[in-house]
Parts: sequence; C-alpha cells; structure tokens
Amino acid sequence: MAASARSVLRFSRSSPVARSALNSARFYSTKQPTLKERLAELIPAEIENVKAIRAAHGKKSFGPVVVDQLYGGMRGLPALIWDGSVLDPDEGIRFRGKTIPEIQELLPRAPGGSEPLPEGLFWLLLTGEIPTQEQVAELSRDWAARSAIPEFVEEILDRCPPTLHPMSQFSLAVTALNHDSAFAKAYQDGVSKKEYWGPTFEDSMDLIAKLPNIAGRIYRNVYGRGKLPAIDPTKDYSHNLSTLLGFGDNEAFNELLRLYITIHSDHEGGNVSAHTGKLVGSALSDPFLAFGASLNGLAGPLHGLANQEVLLWLRKMQSQIGENATDEAVQEYIWSTLKGGKVVPGYGHAVLRKTDPRYTAQREFALKHLPDDALFKLVGQIYNLVPDILLEAGKAKNPWPNVDAHSGVLLTYYGLTEMNFYTVLFGVSRSFGVAAQLIWDRALGAPLERPKSYSSDAIQKMFKDKN
Ligand SMILES: CC(C)(COP(=O)(O)OP(=O)(O)OC[C@H]1O[C@@H](n2cnc3c(N)ncnc32)[C@H](O)[C@@H]1OP(=O)(O)O)[C@@H](O)C(=O)NCCC(=O)NCCS
Repeated sequence: MAASARSVLRFSRSSPVARSALNSARFYSTKQPTLKERLAELIPAEIENVKAIRAAHGKKSFGPVVVDQLYGGMRGLPALIWDGSVLDPDEGIRFRGKTIPEIQELLPRAPGGSEPLPEGLFWLLLTGEIPTQEQVAELSRDWAARSAIPEFVEEILDRCPPTLHPMSQFSLAVTALNHDSAFAKAYQDGVSKKEYWGPTFEDSMDLIAKLPNIAGRIYRNVYGRGKLPAIDPTKDYSHNLSTLLGFGDNEAFNELLRLYITIHSDHEGGNVSAHTGKLVGSALSDPFLAFGASLNGLAGPLHGLANQEVLLWLRKMQSQIGENATDEAVQEYIWSTLKGGKVVPGYGHAVLRKTDPRYTAQREFALKHLPDDALFKLVGQIYNLVPDILLEAGKAKNPWPNVDAHSGVLLTYYGLTEMNFYTVLFGVSRSFGVAAQLIWDRALGAPLERPKSYSSDAIQKMFKDKN
C-alpha cells in the first residue's frame, strides 16, 4: 500500500484532530465504508506511489541474472510485483507485513471463535488494513448474496463422471463462470482502462462467493453425499462452505476451515497458482479464466496436490508398518520412498528454508483440538525424523515441512477423509490471494507479461569464447 495511504491510516487512529473529524463524520453517517468504497479511496494514492517508485528506482538493478536461473525454474529471479504477501525464506509468509500469529490476533473472528475469518484476510490483502467486525460481516453477507451458480454450471458438474478428478471439475466450473463476467462484458462495451478495476472487483467477489457452491457440489456428486443444502446468509463464508460439505454442525470443523482458508490464501506471487493467475490475467482474461488457469497449476503434485499425496503416503506407511510403528520402522519407510526415486510429500520448498509457519499454525490447532489422534502423532513423529534423513540424502535444499504436511490430517480427523478432494479446499483458499492481486493489477494498469526466452543454442553462441 502507498506510504501516503498508510500514514492516513496511522493519522486516523492516533490523532485527536482526526478522531474528532471522524466523530463528526459519524454524526452524519454511522455506516462504515464497504470494501469497494475503501479500495476506491486507496487506488489514486497507490497509482502515485508506483509512479514515484518507478521515477526514483526504475532503472536500478537487482543484480545479475545467471544462466542457471533460466534452466532452474527461475529460482530467485526478481520478476513480479505482488502486494498481498511476501515470503521470507527463514521467517515464512507475511500478509501485508503481518505474520500468521499476528493475523490470528488482529483479524475479526466468528462469535465465540478463536480463528481469523477469511473475510478479514481478504480485506487485509486488498487494503493493507484490518477491517472492523461490521465490515467483515458485510462481506459475509455480500458473498452469500452472490453465491448462486448458473444452472448450466450445475449441469456441467452433474454430468462429470465421478472418476474425473475433483480439481479438473473445479477448473471446468470456474472457467465456465466466465459466461457472466462483468469484466468481459465491460471490455466488449469499450470500458476505459482507468475503470478496469471496477468490473474486475465485481468478478473477483463473484468468483470467491461462488466457490463454496462449486466445491460443495463436486464433493457431494463425487462421493455420493446427497443434495446440496442452501447457503445461509446469516453465516460466515467458512461456516457456509462447511455446511455445503456436510460438516456445518461441527463448530470445531468450521474453525478449522477459517484457519485453513486464511493460511492457504496467499504465498506471494511466484508460486505456480499465483503466478499463473497473474500471467493469464495480464492478457486481460477475466478473473474466472485467470483463476481457472491457477487451479490447473495447483492441481500438480509438486504444488497443491501434495496435500493429497501426503495422506496417501501416510496411509500407505500405516498399512505397511502398522500404527504406532517404531522410529526405526518409520525411518526405513522414509528411506524406501527416497530410494524409490520419489519425493517425501509435504517436505521441502522452493523458497522456504525453515519449518513453514503454516505447518506450525496447523500443529497448534491439532494440539488444541486433537492432541491424542494417532495420525497426528505419526505426523509429529515424521517431523522428528524426515529433516535429518533429507539432510543425509543431501539433495533437498530445505528439509523442513511445508503447509501440505499437516492439512490432510486435520481434515481426516473431522471425517473429511476423501483425499482427492483436499486440493479443492486449497483452491477455494487460493482464490483470495489471486483475486486480490488481479484487482490491483487492473487498478494499476499492469501490462501484458512478456519475459524473454532463449534457446540453448542462443545461449551457447552468446557466451562462446567468454569466460
Ligand atoms: C516443493 C519442491 C517441489 C521444491 O522443489 P525445488 O525448489 O526444486 O527443491 P530443491 O531445490 O530443494 O530440490 C533439489 C533436489 O532435492 C529434491 N527434493 C526436494 N524436496 C524433496 C523431498 N521432499 N523429498 C525428496 N527429494 C526432495 C528435488 O527433487 C531435487 O532433486 P533433483 O536434483 O534430483 O531434481 C520439492 O521440495 C518437493 O518436491 N517437495 C515435495 C512435494 C511438496 O511437498 N510440494 C508442496 C510444496 S508447498
């Protein structure tokens, strides 16, 4: 967020002059700004902020780019602007500067709950500000009001064979939502570039709002769980998603979903799903097309599908060496995975070099709600064993667990045992981060992405006779 916008915020909270101005404003109106109204206030300052950054630093260098980075999946290549979150290799994720424990403390919660409401996280990702309870409640109501999906999308889902992976069904349905895109229509009607962000905001809100109905329908169709109940406009987003999956009566599961969606929402811009959404969006494809593409990337086993892989791996381990296995037996199983040329799912990361704080947040949830669960204990046992083994094997740069090492165990505990569905929940969550950046990209007039590629032949010629 622009420094000027931040100082307005600081000023408004601390200064007596500002407080009295605010109070007199409240005398005329007690209504707090909606997310769109607040965003409209912030955008002009951020446009100026970006102009100032580019004027002052636009020609400065981050340092050299080396050939290995072109062959090595662009690791560490500075290439993208992503405002919602930044990932520090040692500390983990910060959402608009705030760590996971900080957002757990600061964001509004459901009545009687202790986990943050993802509605508040979306507000934070977009504005850099902590919303009030009233603003978050308004978002819950708004999303509930937008949540219905078109009949033809329901039919697409109902016609999918249950053998089609839930992520493929998810991506099909999200892509089909483009039928009613406000942005696509506005673009056809010749909307000015300055106004792009408005219909992008509307599409993004619709996208997030409709995902529970899509996810719920896939879950019930694929696993034969009966008819989908209706969204309750008095409940928050996670509670509604939980109800659609059939778990709404279990308040601990609702709390888990609030935490789950919040911590899976965003992980800066370079990961496959986030970057894909931004890249596709840069062609002015609407948020449904852009996020459909994100989901296809999330469906890969090195990315979001790892949460499914972890559970499969744990279950296989239990079937081979039994429950309550000794450390020696577990170590042997881990080695057999590596020797079989496979990765240990849920461990390692392209950026992180420490235990993922998203893993830690889930571990703390488990310690509070399911301390004696056998599978949770196995996850803890593995945590004590895998890092040393990966270090000894000597390949992985990061031997520590990531977010996917823990999520499946929590879902399983509450009865959501269908592992093939887990990445869909990750997908629902990831929409928050991708949508927030798509809105800012349109507000700031981000151009079409077009990095330069080289052939190996060209590289050989370029460096021929050079040391
Ligand atoms: C996440 C991941 C894809 C990052 O890949 P990366 O940035 O290329 O990781 P590294 O630079 O540490 O990889 C170096 C080597 O270590 C291996 N390695 C990394 N993590 C490993 C793991 N968990 N188990 C076994 N080997 C691993 C890589 O496969 C690679 O081997 P190679 O040289 O034979 O190709 C990788 O750690 C991985 O596959 N983890 C398991 C899947 C997973 O949990 N994904 C979810 C990520 S949030």
